[in-house]
Amino acid sequence: MNNPTLLKNLRNIPDFPIPGVQFKDVTTLFKNAKCMKIMLNELYEIYKDKGITKVVGIESRGFVLGAALAVKLGAGFVMCRKPGKLPAETLQESYMKEYGKDTIEIHKDAIDEKDVVLIHDDLLATGGSMKAAYNLVKKFNPAHVYINFIIELTGEGLNGREVFDEGIEISTLLRV
Ligand code: PRP
Ligand code: HPA
Repeated sequence: MNNPTLLKNLRNIPDFPIPGVQFKDVTTLFKNAKCMKIMLNELYEIYKDKGITKVVGIESRGFVLGAALAVKLGAGFVMCRKPGKLPAETLQESYMKEYGKDTIEIHKDAIDEKDVVLIHDDLLATGGSMKAAYNLVKKFNPAHVYINFIIELTGEGLNGREVFDEGIEISTLLRV
């Protein structure tokens, strides 16, 4: 947790996308080979003995390490996408964002009841995106669902973790 090399390399962009927001820019971790290795190894250590069979990555920043981790765990990788992008039949979940409604989708045949699923995203802010992904994955009735983020924002007014029921196993690598 809170590896110093990761903390040192995570870029903060003040006032993006609107004044007052301190935006944590994960691209500076993704472009750094040492950081990629640290993140992937830390994730692997957390999940190597959990019997994960599918890693679900949330579009788009959840695809980067989600896919790499799936390979390392010997699991399949499943895309959780914004609407209209997946070509075959999907299950969907709609949720409220700050301004209006959004929807996410997963292919109907991507997860089955025997799967042990890890849902991965880069960052937890309000928790809205992950809660929707969690609700969507639960529609497939998999054997178990874990949740992971690289970064958990802990700033004032942000309590993303609290939108999840207590029994849900959530891990994060950085709390900033
Ligand atoms: C960002 C981020 C998470 C989500 C976190 O994605 O990558 O998915 O927002 O916010 P929340 O906890 O308040 O839901 P974004 O929708 O900007 O898409 P992107 O990954 O394609 O940039
Ligand atoms: N960084 C990246 N994505 C985000 C952030 C942030 O600080 N806040 C909400 N989405």
